[in-house]
Amino acid sequence: MIDTTTRGGRPPATLPVLETALVRLRDHRADDLDAMRLVWSDADAMRHLSTGVMDDARIRRRLDEAMATAAATPRHHYQLAACLQGDDRPIGGIRLDVEDATTGYAGVLTMARHLRGSGCAPDIGRLMLKLAFAELGLTRVRSMTSLENTDAVRAITRFGFTPTGETERYFAEADTTMRLLTMEISVDTWRTMPGSAGPGA
Ligand SMILES: CC(C)(COP(=O)(O)OP(=O)(O)OC[C@H]1O[C@@H](n2cnc3c(N)ncnc32)[C@H](O)[C@@H]1OP(=O)(O)O)[C@@H](O)C(=O)NCCC(=O)NCCS
Repeated sequence: MIDTTTRGGRPPATLPVLETALVRLRDHRADDLDAMRLVWSDADAMRHLSTGVMDDARIRRRLDEAMATAAATPRHHYQLAACLQGDDRPIGGIRLDVEDATTGYAGVLTMARHLRGSGCAPDIGRLMLKLAFAELGLTRVRSMTSLENTDAVRAITRFGFTPTGETERYFAEADTTMRLLTMEISVDTWRTMPGSAGPGA
């Protein structure tokens, strides 16, 4: 059956509009450094991430990489800034990597500390899933979270991921080994969720 809610795997030429009443995802710009420093250099927040805490040089490199991969054709990497509606400064972000024709990997969900519990994080996650399923035509998105990062596990399950197992991995960027919960969501599950383009919308 032809699915009219997706683009059948053809990547959009430009980033589609991804917004809720609370937040908007956009591509990063060079002038995001000051705003992202508040998020990516927060030692307590970043200690569970594969990137570790970032200094200015690493934030700059990550922004440069985000802008370069945004311009690539075909595009496989979406390191996106999350902004509150009505304010163009990022308050966090999320990354989606297209692994192959069906599967994406989501990671580096981050948000400014003062916005925890505001409802922004689930919106950021849902917008990433909209990009993956409705815009890019993927059928599965995977993710991994440190088992110790219980806040993140709760947040990620809130927007539809379910645990699939555990693994251990070394992350060179952070120079650390972590026990990880592997998680995923299928397009069929996503379609049943409030806010998706599916019958449960
Ligand atoms: C992961 C992260 C983005 C989640 O954000 P968050 O705002 O804490 O997540 P949630 O939306 O789940 O909200 C947290 C709490 O606030 C509550 N909340 C959510 N929306 C709310 C709202 N609109 N009003 C009041 N409370 C709200 C939730 O119910 C939740 O409470 P609970 O866990 O006791 O049930 C954030 O913790 C973070 O930046 N962590 C550091 C980076 C990190 O670890 N990232 C994950 C990498 S995989």
